[in-house]
Amino acid sequence: MVKAVVLGAAGGIGQPLALLLKSSPLIDELGLYDIVNTPGVAADLSHIATPAKVEGYLPPDDGLAKTLKGADIVVIPAGVPRKPGMTRDDLFKINAGIVRDLATGIATAVPKAFVLVISNPVNSTVPIVAEVFKKHGVFDPKRLFGVTTLDVVRASTFVAEKLGDLSLSSKVVVPVVGGHSGVTIVPLLSQSSHPLPASISEDDYKTLVHRVQFGGDEVVKAKDGAGSATLSMAYAGAEFSFKVLRALKGEKGIVAPSYVSLEADSAGAALLTKELGQELAYFSSNVELGQEGVVKINPLGKITEAEQKLIAAALPELAKNIATGVGFGTEARL
Ligand SMILES: NC(=O)c1ccc[n+]([C@@H]2O[C@H](COP(=O)([O-])OP(=O)(O)OC[C@H]3O[C@@H](n4cnc5c(N)ncnc54)[C@H](O)[C@@H]3O)[C@@H](O)[C@H]2O)c1
Repeated sequence: MVKAVVLGAAGGIGQPLALLLKSSPLIDELGLYDIVNTPGVAADLSHIATPAKVEGYLPPDDGLAKTLKGADIVVIPAGVPRKPGMTRDDLFKINAGIVRDLATGIATAVPKAFVLVISNPVNSTVPIVAEVFKKHGVFDPKRLFGVTTLDVVRASTFVAEKLGDLSLSSKVVVPVVGGHSGVTIVPLLSQSSHPLPASISEDDYKTLVHRVQFGGDEVVKAKDGAGSATLSMAYAGAEFSFKVLRALKGEKGIVAPSYVSLEADSAGAALLTKELGQELAYFSSNVELGQEGVVKINPLGKITEAEQKLIAAALPELAKNIATGVGFGTEARL
């Protein structure tokens, strides 16, 4: 029996994510929690003819603990999305406390569950969850994941567009490494399963990289004040959740980029640190998944000079974001 939980399940991401999870035969029970509307979302989803039993709770009467009870995987899209003009710092100020409180609930109720963090800024919210778990003495770095899959999904789509064949988009695999905002997002296009045309100009390459790094802005702008990516994020969140669940059920060899604590695999981290030339506590690289979570953190491998420059540009920002998250989380520990 597998129980999945969505925290923030009534939101723009939460609802379609819950729908996709409910549609999956991998899940037997689905717990939905939000500060509003979850009984309604749960009642609606519960009529869908798939096996998962759905329950929705609100904060009163220990709703969070009830939702989490018995969870194997907890996905967190709770928080405020970015609006035009809002910086990542603005977002952090609001979402940090929300993530801290939900992490406290998880650490208390289901400390062994896999935790998948969607709430932005992921570069900082993942360290907050880790610090809260450390405070409770239950931190297992193999079980905590920042969901960067939307960057991977965007890279696949944009490369397929460049190749002039959208039907390839679900087959194109591009490792996207680093972190999950702006310049910290580094698509390793040279490692794409479907290489870009050799004739691609430097300008076209730069535009493509920029589009993967700042694809979120396209959506924020187009939604014009109504929020950020929700449907594509729900798709990406479900895709990564299914990978974690397939690994939990014993499938071997599943590899996907995710933003994880480098404590999850010290040998892998040592290789990666050598490649980066700098020690970081968190990084998104291709991660091999298993029944206990992270099995291996893969190195970057062979990358081009242009990609080395992108990594160099990502590192200072990433280090700053990590320090912000750890700082907030450490304060929460006191
Ligand atoms: N990782 C990614 O790639 C990615 C992509 C897009 C958005 N996001 C982030 O996901 C988050 C959610 O985005 P959205 O568009 O769904 O926003 P939304 O406002 O539509 O939904 C957020 C939901 O969280 C709920 N919520 C707020 N505080 C809560 C709490 N303490 N406990 C439980 N639920 C709570 C709200 O009631 C709301 O239903 C944002 O932080 C956004 O920046 C991440």
